[in-house]
Amino acid sequence: RVTVTAGPTQEALDPVRYLTNHSSGRMGYAIAREAMLRGAQVTLVSGPVDLPLVPFVETRPVTTAADMFRAVRDLLPATDVLIKAAAVADYRPAQVASDKMKNSDQDLSIPLERTDDILGWVAEPRHPGLFVCGFSMETRDMVANSRAKLERKKLDMIVANNLKVEGAGFGTDTNVATLLFKDGHRETPPMMSKEALADLILDRLLSMK
Ligand code: CTP
Repeated sequence: RVTVTAGPTQEALDPVRYLTNHSSGRMGYAIAREAMLRGAQVTLVSGPVDLPLVPFVETRPVTTAADMFRAVRDLLPATDVLIKAAAVADYRPAQVASDKMKNSDQDLSIPLERTDDILGWVAEPRHPGLFVCGFSMETRDMVANSRAKLERKKLDMIVANNLKVEGAGFGTDTNVATLLFKDGHRETPPMMSKEALADLILDRLLSMK
């Protein structure tokens, strides 16, 4: 039983506007598809994306980081492998205006509050046998920052990519990733399609489980 999160979250400011990021959801959808093809029972918790549903995968659409948190929390007891490819908002507007915010001559600052760190919450206490794979997108010090995330969030594995590397990141068909493992070793496969990377991630995960 594999739970995959994918895509961005959207955090409303008012009925018209929201904060989000450039995540396309393609990496998470590719992982869900490859896991399904290997015979896993897959649930995909998906932020708002423009991708076709994956056949034979149960998709749970969510909008906000709080929605995603609740969906993962509810699925966790029946999950053997959690793969968190979603780009979750770390902050949301502290107040959501019920009417459209009108403009004025003044500049504007918007107070933000923290969202819950879903992976941080999953870390402990966690049921025995649960395998957790996170993702990390960086623009500098990728390995050191991602290793710190793996340790802080008590992950088994983290897939790190540097947005500034050609062929990596949002909206591309390919990815350039470094896989970091909890035993300290790491692997940097060549640039490959997101489907091929999904396959490799599942190979590594199965050999660790
Ligand atoms: N993540 C999460 N809940 C959040 C934020 C992130 O579960 N509120 C997960 C992401 O799905 C990803 C991993 O944590 O698998 C790392 O996300 P990332 O944004 O790169 O890391 P952060 O810990 O938020 O650190 P920073 O944004 O400062 O780089």
